Amino acid sequence: MGKFVVGNWKMNGRLAANEALLAGLQPVAGVEIALCVPFPYLAQVAALSSGLSLGAQNVSEHDDGAFTGEVSAQMLADLGCQYVIVGHSERRQSHGETDAVIGRKAKAALAAGLVPIVCVGETLAQRQAGEVLETIRRQLDAVADGMVEADLARLVLAYEPVWAIGTGHSASAEQVAEVHDSIRAWLVGRLGQQSAVRILYGGSVKATNAAALFALANVDGGLIGGASLIAEEFMAICRQAGG
Ligand code: PGA
Repeated sequence: MGKFVVGNWKMNGRLAANEALLAGLQPVAGVEIALCVPFPYLAQVAALSSGLSLGAQNVSEHDDGAFTGEVSAQMLADLGCQYVIVGHSERRQSHGETDAVIGRKAKAALAAGLVPIVCVGETLAQRQAGEVLETIRRQLDAVADGMVEADLARLVLAYEPVWAIGTGHSASAEQVAEVHDSIRAWLVGRLGQQSAVRILYGGSVKATNAAALFALANVDGGLIGGASLIAEEFMAICRQAGG
């Protein structure tokens, strides 16, 4: 299975800056690359990036209707999105998204034909309390409960320890391996077989640490925040994913 590298631009970008960044991005053989960009720039990125997949960073749990300020999964599909990030820790922490809301968003995305990139991860306090694996399992269960196996098999999962996001300090290879192996075991338990569900790692991935993380058995790629805003850095990460 080829690796999957997803750039999460977060709330960054302007038309001119995006154009310059996109000019520096190219497909990499054997690697799927997706860009998850702010809603207003989806059409621009769709028009200016060829050979890259498109995604959003959030989606409403509701279908079209009277939900002022929200964006539906159907709208994202209409604009050419294949992916949407669901349950990023910044949304869990600053926008009150609970496990239940995230589960409903993932199901809304799937119903519109999108692939949710579901983020899970523990806070520093949860790690220090020895609650890493149970936190991840609770977050995963909330998404999978009430979801048919065929839908579960379509998800992309991303392990993003909250303390590693945007801090410059990624989790160690040992820490990443422990969680990714446990997510893989959870998938086997749920799906009863080895599935093709991709498990990404996110949290301060850079060109200098990507190769070691991508070499781990159950790391199928990365979710890249800050480094995805610098074309050369992001391309260097994508090339490491190509082996
Ligand atoms: P970071 O962000 O690469 O800047 O740590 C990752 C993410 O939040 O998806």
